[in-house]
Amino acid sequence: MRLKDKVAIVTGAGQGIGKAIALGLAKEGCSVIVNDVNEQTGQQTAQEIQDLGRKAIFVQGDVSKIETAYKLRDTALEEFGRIDILVNNAGIMISGLVVDYREEDWDRIFAVNAKSVFLMCKVIGKVMIDQRYGKIVNVASIGAKDGDRYQAAYAATKAAVMNFSRAFSKEVAQYGINVNSICPGFVDTEMGKVNLADPEKRKKFIERTPKGRVSVPEDMVGLTVFLCTDESEFIVGQAINVDGGVLYY
Ligand SMILES: NC(=O)c1ccc[n+]([C@@H]2O[C@H](COP(=O)([O-])OP(=O)(O)OC[C@H]3O[C@@H](n4cnc5c(N)ncnc54)[C@H](O)[C@@H]3O)[C@@H](O)[C@H]2O)c1
Repeated sequence: MRLKDKVAIVTGAGQGIGKAIALGLAKEGCSVIVNDVNEQTGQQTAQEIQDLGRKAIFVQGDVSKIETAYKLRDTALEEFGRIDILVNNAGIMISGLVVDYREEDWDRIFAVNAKSVFLMCKVIGKVMIDQRYGKIVNVASIGAKDGDRYQAAYAATKAAVMNFSRAFSKEVAQYGINVNSICPGFVDTEMGKVNLADPEKRKKFIERTPKGRVSVPEDMVGLTVFLCTDESEFIVGQAINVDGGVLYY
């Protein structure tokens, strides 16, 4: 086990990539604070972690609200006394052409995808600075580097996550905190359905992927776990693609 007795918070861990990462961290020895807006799926992830013999606590909440960050911080500190790992994974997709895109959708997608990362880093980052230790992995997207049609707002949120992570990593590296982003490609999840539900579109996405398949949430686990171990001690502010070869930058 590479993360024995570490304490991790994973947001949006009720399903998809967040769930796979939460289970992956637990398999490596972490106790996990599982967050989601969806109580049922979040509880289910916590149960599956407990079934692995690890500790898990579900904290329901919308990560675009600072109260959720405080709730996650307080729960982790009361139960475990420290926070070693933070994975900011929660996100939404609202797609559409820019000229038709509603202002309220722009505000919502920025609140959930980008503002939440700032709020969590602000609140949990303070704890990590006091500890002089922390690993933060923010889930961006290859859309941060190469936005697709219908996804301008989403791409903008993920570029914000990527560049926020770079700048923040420079503030906190001196305190023993590593901040990095991962950039998934086309992942077969509820969110991924926007691109992958239609067989024709799916075929096109597979053709764009040198590995010859779309990814599954479990593909995101290896890099995330690595970035949470001390083996990645000198990796700071990076935005690493996990996309089967779609992008090379
Ligand atoms: N699926 C893809 O192709 C893909 C590609 C690149 C990046 N990503 C990113 O990966 C992350 C996970 O995506 P996924 O594909 O697993 O999506 P998903 O929709 O399957 O899961 C997202 C989870 O986040 C939760 N969530 C949504 N809003 C929340 C909020 N305000 N507060 C707390 N939890 C909230 C949902 O309830 C859900 O459990 C997202 O940040 C997404 O942008 C996904």
